[in-house]
Amino acid sequence: MTSFNQKRTEWDNQASSTSDLKAQVCRPVGEDDWRALITDIEKKLLLPNKDKAQGSAILDVGCGNALVLSEFANNFEHAYGIDYGDSMITNAQKTLPQGIFSTGEAADLKFSDQQFDRVLSYSIFHYFPDEGYIYKAIDEMIRVTKKGGVILIGDLLDKTFEQQIKSASDLNYEKKLPLILRYSQWTFCDLEKIITHFQQPKYQSKVNKIEILNQPTHFKLHHYRKDLRICC
Ligand SMILES: C[S@@+](CC[C@H](N)C(=O)[O-])C[C@H]1O[C@@H](n2cnc3c(N)ncnc32)[C@H](O)[C@@H]1O
Repeated sequence: MTSFNQKRTEWDNQASSTSDLKAQVCRPVGEDDWRALITDIEKKLLLPNKDKAQGSAILDVGCGNALVLSEFANNFEHAYGIDYGDSMITNAQKTLPQGIFSTGEAADLKFSDQQFDRVLSYSIFHYFPDEGYIYKAIDEMIRVTKKGGVILIGDLLDKTFEQQIKSASDLNYEKKLPLILRYSQWTFCDLEKIITHFQQPKYQSKVNKIEILNQPTHFKLHHYRKDLRICC
């Protein structure tokens, strides 16, 4: 099995291993930390002033069980989520019955050009196989976002810290863990390179502004995790 398929299977197993919604997406946080996370995402997503405007739509790429998406779904007429795990999608439909969910890959979005007002993708890029996949996924997100829309890609692992984090990991101990929990398997992002790439002239008509955002300093892992916002 390729490591891509193995990670997909591991996420599916994780989704069906417990009824605890936060544990299903490996985010074992208490209520205060959860609220702080949602508040931070909400602020950075620049939610539209008018709730449920006709035709408004949000897409969550790698939505997991839709616990995050369900916090913002009411701001839009339509809330969509995709994830490559079938069990994640089954759970997402239970969390947000009015949501429109499908199984799919981040680098191949089965949606029309300019379909969404907001595209969110949180805590998924480090499970991507390589840098090429990162660029394809961002390209796809830009394609499906409306002019004037906003893309928020959250919790990117900053490549500046890759060696430090990977070298601190005990590779023998890692062997006991699923791939998705092994630091050695995580894909880090060269954020400046991503910015430079999407500022090229060929993106000029689609990308209005692209910026790196810090996470609040009280977030435990804020020093090496960053968010990326693209205003289209
Ligand atoms: C840590 S969970 C985060 C879920 C959700 N975004 C959240 O913040 O609660 C990572 C999710 O990304 C999904 N995922 C990882 N790689 C993916 C890919 N290439 N395409 C689609 N989904 C992917 C996994 O199935 C899993 O549900």
